[in-house]
Amino acid sequence: MTASAKILPLLTAPDPLLRRHSAAVSAVDDSVRELMDSLVATMGVEGGIGLAAPQAGILWRVFVTRVDVEDGGPGKVLKMANPEIVWRSEERAVHCEGCLSVPELKADVERPAEVRVRYLDEAGEVREVRAGGLFAACLQHESDHLDGVLFFDRLGLVRRDMIIRRLRRRKREREAEGEDAVL
Ligand code: NI
Repeated sequence: MTASAKILPLLTAPDPLLRRHSAAVSAVDDSVRELMDSLVATMGVEGGIGLAAPQAGILWRVFVTRVDVEDGGPGKVLKMANPEIVWRSEERAVHCEGCLSVPELKADVERPAEVRVRYLDEAGEVREVRAGGLFAACLQHESDHLDGVLFFDRLGLVRRDMIIRRLRRRKREREAEGEDAVL
């Protein structure tokens, strides 16, 4: 962990920055490592098992995860730059997903049950990880963030619209309370 790791303020839906496509990093340098460490620190404080840079408004293809591959609880931290899903299983699986950018809303999301992801680690080395279970869901959820996709986009239209309406209503309530003024 670099000394410069900081807790990043997170964006919540429907913030338009969450819908943008993030850019690949040209190299894993100190600024990328600093971002990775800040994401890890923020994920720890917020209690998530994954966090992608665009959730902090930083449009780089970087995310961190900490899923225990055995029981799905918090485990070993992985820091990834320019991750790419290079293989998806035919078999699909459903996991209950939430998101730090979509507070308090959770839904069962169906995705490929297993994936293989190629990425650059914090030393800039090319690595590949094969994942199943909640870890696979987490890697796909975080990869989606880099393309401006949120988990409820993966739901059927009715449930997706229900969540979008709820998020819009909350935003209006927050604005009415003047909360945005202090951000
Ligand atoms: Ni998320």
